[in-house]
Amino acid sequence: MTAVGIDAIELWSGKLRLDLAETFAPVKGEDPGKYTKGIGIEYSSLPDVYEDIVTMGANAAKQLMDRKGLTPDDIGRIDVATESAFDNSKPVSTYIAGCLEQVYDGDFHHANKGERKFACLSGTQCLDDAYNWIRAGRNRGRAALVIATDTALYERGDPGEATQGAGAVAMLIDEEPDIVALSTEQGYGSADETDFLKPNQQFPSVDGKRSIQVYLARMREALEDYESVAGDTHPEDFVYFPFHTPYPGMVRKAALLGYRHITRDTEIEDALADDIGMQPREENYETREDYEEAIRAYMDELKGTRQYQEWYEQAIEPTIQVSGQVGNWYTASVHLARLSALRAAASEDVDLAGEKMLVGSYGSGAQAEIHAETVRDGWREGVEGLDVDAQLADRYDLSFEEYELVHDVHNHQKEVEVEEFTQPEGEFVFTGWGRMNERRYEYVE
Ligand code: CAA
Repeated sequence: MTAVGIDAIELWSGKLRLDLAETFAPVKGEDPGKYTKGIGIEYSSLPDVYEDIVTMGANAAKQLMDRKGLTPDDIGRIDVATESAFDNSKPVSTYIAGCLEQVYDGDFHHANKGERKFACLSGTQCLDDAYNWIRAGRNRGRAALVIATDTALYERGDPGEATQGAGAVAMLIDEEPDIVALSTEQGYGSADETDFLKPNQQFPSVDGKRSIQVYLARMREALEDYESVAGDTHPEDFVYFPFHTPYPGMVRKAALLGYRHITRDTEIEDALADDIGMQPREENYETREDYEEAIRAYMDELKGTRQYQEWYEQAIEPTIQVSGQVGNWYTASVHLARLSALRAAASEDVDLAGEKMLVGSYGSGAQAEIHAETVRDGWREGVEGLDVDAQLADRYDLSFEEYELVHDVHNHQKEVEVEEFTQPEGEFVFTGWGRMNERRYEYVE
């Protein structure tokens, strides 16, 4: 069967950054360690006044098209994933196509465009749509452009404010891809949940503590569903486990639960038994409470074992490096996690071709999805040329007062005039509103 998957990836970070330890923590009266160690985010990327989900998405897409030498004719669909849309009818993909048409010969009139919504999960759902379109033979030799783009802003003072971020990831989905091939097998964990939502409002209503439990419960269901079709998973089957990363501390929790699950009934559980005993089995406990308490005690022990820590260092830590520098990018976060791991492998000269990753996506509301990806021969070239380090290093450092202004500029309820902090060059910028209240953009040389 022809492989279908990700042929190219690019990212575009918001051009400002907020230092959580140095700038945010002192104003909040919090210990900086809460952000850098507990939550695990050093900097939040934020959009400059001329940036939004369209500019970031179009800029990532343009970088991708330029690197691959593509023209509009090569692309048969443009799918945008976002939970920061500003229009209930006209999809963001039309704005992005309009931007790209300003700089390329030809147009995207032949391309199917859409916008997917399921909180942070929809970037992965767009990959699915593209995969299915190609597998169905409807692509006429063309590739799909998938763009996950968000300004993940919270109400000022909300606990989620510490996990904000802004950026876009663009991916080209094609046959015989250079970077990873997607598995046919998938698992889902999906339920009607009220953990994080935006009922006709810009900033989310969040039950933060509950959202953590819902993330873990839906991921677990998705893993069990995946195993029901792909067979049991084992830590050695996968080189990396990129998960949706609202903040690295969340992934630390998911990783520990995941490790307990994938080592159960394996030689790893047997090898750990001398030190920490076997995993608790529900049938051995009289009440559910006793069983849950035994699990918590086992997990506390498991966290300190050499086996778990080595696995975490190799299989999880590389996936959260970029996220710790940019914060939550919502729909793009799991795709940043994959990219983060591939970049870490490239920088350490690891040969990944043929290795597998287990990818776990999550969207509040809530649904998790798990699938496997096989790394392709061209992966190294596909990630080595990216300018991620330069983009992150070039971000403008905001003072707290400047951060407050930036938050206000992007607050749809406020009208404030603020000077830009950086100078746009070779990129799309937001220029204001048109006669029907549409947003307008132009390319700045
Ligand atoms: N040094 C080290 N660690 C410290 C510390 C210090 N000085 N101070 C606190 N910590 C630790 C805490 O122990 C805690 O870690 P554990 O959870 O492992 O115990 C961590 O830092 C965070 O501290 P708090 O729990 O006190 O933080 P909080 O209550 O202010 O907010 C939050 C945390 C609930 C996650 C909040 O940021 C939030 O609401 N975020 C938005 C919702 C979210 O991201 N949910 C994740 C799942 S939902 C999802 O994934 C979808 C999505 O993208 C939004």
